[in-house]
Amino acid sequence: MIGTGYVGLTTGACLASLGHRVVCADADPNKVERLRQARVDILEPDLPGTVRDALDADLLEFTGDTAAAVTEAEVVFLCLPTPMGAGGAADLAAVEAVAGQIRDVLPTGCVVVNKSTVPVGTGERVAALLGRPDVAVVSNPEFLREGRAVHDFLHPDRIVIGAADQDAARRVADLYAGLDAPLVLTDPASAELTKYAANFFLAMKLSFANNLATVCERFGADISDVTEGIGRDPRIGSAFLRPGPGWGGSCLPKDTHALLTACDQAGVDFPLLSATIETNVTHQRQLVERVTAACGSTDGSLRGVRIALYGLTFKAGTSDLRDSPALAVARLLRERGAELTAYDPALREERPDLSDLVDLVDDPVRAADGAAACVVLTEWPELRDLDWAAIAARMAGHEVHDFRNLLDADRLARAGLSWQGIGRTA
Ligand code: UGA
Repeated sequence: MIGTGYVGLTTGACLASLGHRVVCADADPNKVERLRQARVDILEPDLPGTVRDALDADLLEFTGDTAAAVTEAEVVFLCLPTPMGAGGAADLAAVEAVAGQIRDVLPTGCVVVNKSTVPVGTGERVAALLGRPDVAVVSNPEFLREGRAVHDFLHPDRIVIGAADQDAARRVADLYAGLDAPLVLTDPASAELTKYAANFFLAMKLSFANNLATVCERFGADISDVTEGIGRDPRIGSAFLRPGPGWGGSCLPKDTHALLTACDQAGVDFPLLSATIETNVTHQRQLVERVTAACGSTDGSLRGVRIALYGLTFKAGTSDLRDSPALAVARLLRERGAELTAYDPALREERPDLSDLVDLVDDPVRAADGAAACVVLTEWPELRDLDWAAIAARMAGHEVHDFRNLLDADRLARAGLSWQGIGRTA
C-alpha cells in the first residue's frame, strides 16, 4: 500500500483484517513511526483498533521505504493524493513520482492498482511510466466516506474493478473475497469514470437539495418533508438530500472540478456539472446575505459585527477542514468585515491555526460573547445540547442561523433565541 492517508490506511488495515499480509509505505517518517505504535492521526472511528489488531496479528507493517514495500508484493495499491491542480485538473505528481520509484523493483508479474481518484486514462499513463509489460495496471476506485471509512470498506455497496487483463482483475477481486458485495468488472476507463460520476452525482443531489430548500422557504414548504416525500421513490432515494451550507470536503469539490476540466479539454459540454458547482457557490453567498440582513446591515457590511460559528469541519465525525463549506462561509462573512469566533468539538485539543479568519475557542458559551448572531455550520449532534440559555445571556443579539437544521427551535425559543433553519419556516 503506497500512501497512508485515510484511503491507504483504511484499505491496508482492512485488507489485513481479511487475512492478507500488508506493508504500508509513507514518505513521512514521523507518521510511519506513529503508525507502528497504532497511533492514527486522523479522526476515523474503528481505524485505530483495526490497525492495532492487524499489527498484533503480524499482518500489517509500516515502512518509510517505498521500494522496500513493493519488492515482495503480489499486488501494489497506489493510494496517493490527487489534489486540485492548475485549472482545476487533478494533480498527478504524487502518482507519477511513485510510479518512477517502483518501476525497477516491482516483482515480475505483480499487479499495480490505482485506488486514488484519477482522471480517465491515468491507468494507461501509469503503465507507460512503469514500462513493465509483465505488470498489469488495474483501476479499483474507492467509495469510502470519511468518518465511516472502516464500515464502508467492510460493507461495500459494490466493488468496481477496471482492467484490460482479466486475470489481473480476478486477482484483485480475490482480495475482497471475504466481503459480500456485487462486483462490477469493467475496462479501466469505465472504472476511472465511475468514481467521478459517483461523486458528481452526489454533489448534484446536494446542489439540488440546497436550491430546493430556497424554493421551500419561498413557498412555505418544509424541505425535510419534501425530500422525504420524493426520497421514498427508490428511483430518487432519500440519502444525500439534507440541505446545508454547501457541500465540501477533500473529494466532492476536487472531483467535480477535475471532471469539468477533463470534459472541457475533451470538448464535451456538460452544463449540469458546471451548474452543480456554481450552485454551491451561489448558495453560500445567499446564506451569507441572509445573515448580513438579519444582523441589520443595510449596506452589506458587517464591519464590527461579531458572529459566533458552531462547527468548522466539513461534516460531523471528522476533524478534517479541507474544503470545508463552513470555512467558505466564514471567509465570505469575514470579507464583509465580520469578527468571527468559532467553536468546533473536534478542534479542541489540536487547534489548527485559523487566526487570520476566526478566533477559535474551546468553550461554546464563550464563543457567543457579544455575538449579534450564531451560525451552525457542521451537524455535530452535541451542539443540540449546548447550554443555549447561557449562550443567549452572552450574546448581543438573539438570532441563531442553523444551516444544518440541527437544533430544536422550541428549546432555543425557551432560551430566548430565535431559530432560523434552512428550507423551512420555524
Ligand atoms: C465523499 C463520498 O460520499 C464518498 O462516497 C467518496 O468515496 C469520497 O467522497 C471520496 O471520493 O473519497 P466524503 O468526502 O467523506 O465522501 O464526504 P460526504 O459524506 O460525501 O460529504 C460531503 C459533503 O456533503 C459534506 O460537506 C457534507 O456535510 C455534505 N452533505 C452530505 C450535505 O450537506 N448533506 C447531505 O445530505 C450529505
